[in-house]
Amino acid sequence: MTIPFETERLLLRTMLADDLNEIFEIWGSPVVMKYCGGASTKSRIKRSIDFYRRLQNERGYSVYTVLLKETSALIGVCGFNPGENEHEVELLYHFNQHYWGKGYAAEAAAACVAALRKNGPNVRKMSAAVDPANPASGKVLEKIGMTAAGMKWFEDTQQEELCYEMEFV
Ligand SMILES: CC(C)(COP(=O)(O)OP(=O)(O)OC[C@H]1O[C@@H](n2cnc3c(N)ncnc32)[C@H](O)[C@@H]1OP(=O)(O)O)[C@@H](O)C(=O)NCCC(=O)NCCS
Repeated sequence: MTIPFETERLLLRTMLADDLNEIFEIWGSPVVMKYCGGASTKSRIKRSIDFYRRLQNERGYSVYTVLLKETSALIGVCGFNPGENEHEVELLYHFNQHYWGKGYAAEAAAACVAALRKNGPNVRKMSAAVDPANPASGKVLEKIGMTAAGMKWFEDTQQEELCYEMEFV
């Protein structure tokens, strides 16, 4: 993938160690992470930033920092985790709650998918899981063209979640 990449309102780039405090406002927030495994700590987030920087180098994709072009504010994270095998990725997106409801998540997710399809490694399938109590997240996935494939049990969250998929041809 060619990094950074942008949309009309957003710039997406590889995570930096300096993003820690602003990403903590997202991954460290019990409100934002309510349906996504709960709030994280600064030390775990620091390790995640290192992990995603390595993942970008090794696999050519990762979870990106999302900046608002107008103000340069760090408003979210969006991108890909490794999937069940080397040809699959999992899409994720978490935004600072002050920036919800403006279409940023769908705009960022669509750009990540387009960049992955255009320049990305040999990825054939993308999936995403949504807590049924979090309909806004399912809406984002539908807006970018993903379809619901059914419910699946997840050990990490100890519940059934709605799985969405998209095949790349
Ligand atoms: C889910 C999340 C990413 C959505 O971000 P966002 O920038 O507000 O999303 P968008 O504005 O692109 O789209 C959200 C859509 O959901 C809709 N929506 C919001 N709350 C909703 C609700 N309770 N029920 C149904 N739809 C809802 C919005 O109306 C919007 O649809 P529309 O554009 O057709 O009006 C954001 O709320 C977030 O970061 N939540 C916490 C992290 C999270 O849940 N991540 C996902 C899975 S772990």
